[in-house]
Amino acid sequence: MASPVNIVVGSHVWVEDPVLAWIDGEVLQINGHDVHVRTTSGKKVVANVSKVFPKDTEAPPGGVDDMTRLSYLHEPGVLQNLAMRYELNEIYTYTGNILIAVNPFQRLPHLYDTHMMGQYKGAGFGELSPHVFAVADVAYRAMINEGKSNSILVSGESGAGKTETTKMLMRYLAYLGGRSGIEGRTVEQQVLESNPVLEAFGNAKTVRNNNSSRFGKFVEIQFDKNGRISGAAIRTYLLERSRVCQINTPERNYHCFYLLCAAPQEEKDKYKLESPESFHYLNQSKCFELDGVDDSLEYLATRRAMDIVGISEDEQEAIFRVVAAILHIGNIDFIKGQEIDSSAIKDDKSMFHLKTAAELLMCDAKGLEDALIKRVMVTPEEVITRTLDPASAIVSRDGLAKTLYSRLFDWLVEKINVSIGQDPNSKSLIGVLDIYGFESFKCNSFEQFCINFTNEKLQQHFNQHVFKMEQEEYTKEEINWSYIEFIDNQDVLDLIEKLQLQALMEP
Ligand SMILES: Nc1ncnc2c1ncn2[C@@H]1O[C@H](COP(=O)(O)OP(=O)(O)O)[C@@H](O)[C@H]1O
Ligand SMILES: [Mg+2]
Repeated sequence: MASPVNIVVGSHVWVEDPVLAWIDGEVLQINGHDVHVRTTSGKKVVANVSKVFPKDTEAPPGGVDDMTRLSYLHEPGVLQNLAMRYELNEIYTYTGNILIAVNPFQRLPHLYDTHMMGQYKGAGFGELSPHVFAVADVAYRAMINEGKSNSILVSGESGAGKTETTKMLMRYLAYLGGRSGIEGRTVEQQVLESNPVLEAFGNAKTVRNNNSSRFGKFVEIQFDKNGRISGAAIRTYLLERSRVCQINTPERNYHCFYLLCAAPQEEKDKYKLESPESFHYLNQSKCFELDGVDDSLEYLATRRAMDIVGISEDEQEAIFRVVAAILHIGNIDFIKGQEIDSSAIKDDKSMFHLKTAAELLMCDAKGLEDALIKRVMVTPEEVITRTLDPASAIVSRDGLAKTLYSRLFDWLVEKINVSIGQDPNSKSLIGVLDIYGFESFKCNSFEQFCINFTNEKLQQHFNQHVFKMEQEEYTKEEINWSYIEFIDNQDVLDLIEKLQLQALMEP
């Protein structure tokens, strides 16, 4: 972005640094576009004038709690402000009415206790230190006063703290709209209690986060005319299906697979399970365990959470049968069959896994085998059955595993929703959106592409809100200020959306 003030010899400035991102210093000399800077660490660097930003030497040492108050709203200024606050354990900062949260990577219980909730209840926005409760409080007050529904959007890259933030938002909304003196468990308790179940099936270890949500979640909390919580619904979308069949070190597959492999012996015997190392869907990565997590205890905790959410013993049994069946399906291997472009089950071991998967799914083993090594095509004239070569058989095997898993996940969400209960007569609702974060891998799956696209759309929404509207305001009031240049990916979004439309229109 263009600097609003001239940079001269003696100016205090920020220059880019390969390690620290930005480093501050003083301008020694300017030759055309080259600015010579002596950094505070004593290094001499030369930078292009377009990459040199003025430093506010009068910025308060503890930073400002609303970044619209910064003298220079440029990247190094924003990052410096966040870093200074982070040093003081201030993880929250406003930019106008948007809250920025920086992951503390440690529990800060004093920030979230009932006393804190009491403080924020009804306090004006900006009156107290920036906090996630303040955002929820504004949404709730606006709903009560204006009688309209609201949504809170949580975005950020993977591991930034979106899901933790979402939990805090829900906890605070439950505090505001909770009903006291009611028998049994309340809706808000149920929503919070459903988390461990969803996380066991929808979360996994990624490079940056040991408990990364691999699905998007929109939680609708419904309120009655008195502002009391009357129902809730969890909507999920874009589960990362590819993870079921393909993972790389140091990632893991969905937690539930490892939990089941760590179940008590009699359970493991029932599902004919061995260690995670013995399953193809798990041993493509060398990571099997999580630091500080005991999968066998987590298994029991998940079963308990399922009890609480209202999933019966029989249903739990069926759920884990499907989970085990998927692991066995992954171990079915193929060899070339006798005819060209055909395949057969590789050996006794593969046959064992095929039979076990069929038993667990309560289907016919021969039928399952045919489904994997043959493809049936229905044309208006006839039904054609074609054999598949081993590589194609693997594709259909993995396709079956992914579909089974995503159907299981959808079924679980549906079950949780029925047990929580929606209020068809609710007056208004507050929605909290927690999506899974932007990531760029060496090779991005189609799912990650969709997620990145979604993140990009949200970023546009954010830009629209913060920059574009702000700049229009300034232009309207004829206030002279330098435009903030931001990377606008709208062109790319338009391109992808056009392509999508075209794909849909093709016969
Ligand atoms: N406000 C917070 N307080 C304490 N720990 C946090 C907080 N936010 C994030 N963390 C830590 O960071 C990890 C990743 O956060 P998470 O919300 O799962 O990220 P995301 O959903 O953005 O991928 C959490 O498991 C937790 O250990
Ligand atoms: Mg998450």
